[in-house]
Amino acid sequence: MEALSNKNKGKVLLRAEGLERKFGGLTAVADFSFELREGEILGLIGPNGAGKSTTFNLISGFMPPTSGSLSFLDQNITSKNATHISRMGLIRTFQHESLLSEMSVADNIIIATTHRLKSQAARLEKMQETAKLTGLEDHLEVMAGSLPHGLQRMLSIAIALAAEPKVLCLDEPLTGLQGAEVGAALDLFEMIRSELGITILLVEHNMRAVMRICDRILVLNHGRLLAAGTPEEVSQNQLVIEAYLGHKK
Ligand SMILES: Nc1ncnc2c1ncn2[C@@H]1O[C@H](COP(=O)(O)OP(=O)(O)O)[C@@H](O)[C@H]1O
Ligand SMILES: [Mg+2]
Repeated sequence: MEALSNKNKGKVLLRAEGLERKFGGLTAVADFSFELREGEILGLIGPNGAGKSTTFNLISGFMPPTSGSLSFLDQNITSKNATHISRMGLIRTFQHESLLSEMSVADNIIIATTHRLKSQAARLEKMQETAKLTGLEDHLEVMAGSLPHGLQRMLSIAIALAAEPKVLCLDEPLTGLQGAEVGAALDLFEMIRSELGITILLVEHNMRAVMRICDRILVLNHGRLLAAGTPEEVSQNQLVIEAYLGHKK
């Protein structure tokens, strides 16, 4: 059998076809088709306002597309709601923090385990495991809102992991992280993929990070797919270079 390139391995987990989302007269996402394959880290990049977070809202069921279709695990999820899609195993984080700030770190994580795990012991074990992975094991009793920013970002990832996703969609997870925190977060994402076997869709504006960690990258501009390819292909693409330079202040 022909050896498969690492970049093209797994089967398609998520497929978007002709995805479109309008807000009144504004088209935030237009005719966007892509596939997310099992085991990959797929980057989704583009200038501010390109439609990245809207794409996350569509695929995770937070809002319906105005046209186009979505399938996840070979099921049509186009009109499914966020609860349904998250229970199928597609879990997203938010660009802006969405923690229960008056609750402890431990409780924030435990809540995310309750759908899958029925026994309190299993929930506690899962909570401790995800807290350890994300460097939160010494902060379990701290109120989420009192954590330093970097640990709040880690907590949102811990909450996502506690739900045992098949696909993890991260919306600008590196924002506000300092120095060594960025490298540690990237190491965590690589570990989530290689050791937990979770497929990752990553929206991130830190280009160096995206180039380091992603197998493939999709570039959105004004809601449309501008380019797709390996980090090398995308970074050398003239349209991509122009789209980014065009947005520089
Ligand atoms: N809920 C909404 N209502 C109206 N316009 C929205 C809404 N969400 C996003 N938009 C608009 O859609 C476009 C894409 O936004 P967004 O998906 O947040 O971009 P990105 O995440 O790439 O920065 C922007 O022009 C934004 O103002
Ligand atoms: Mg966004």
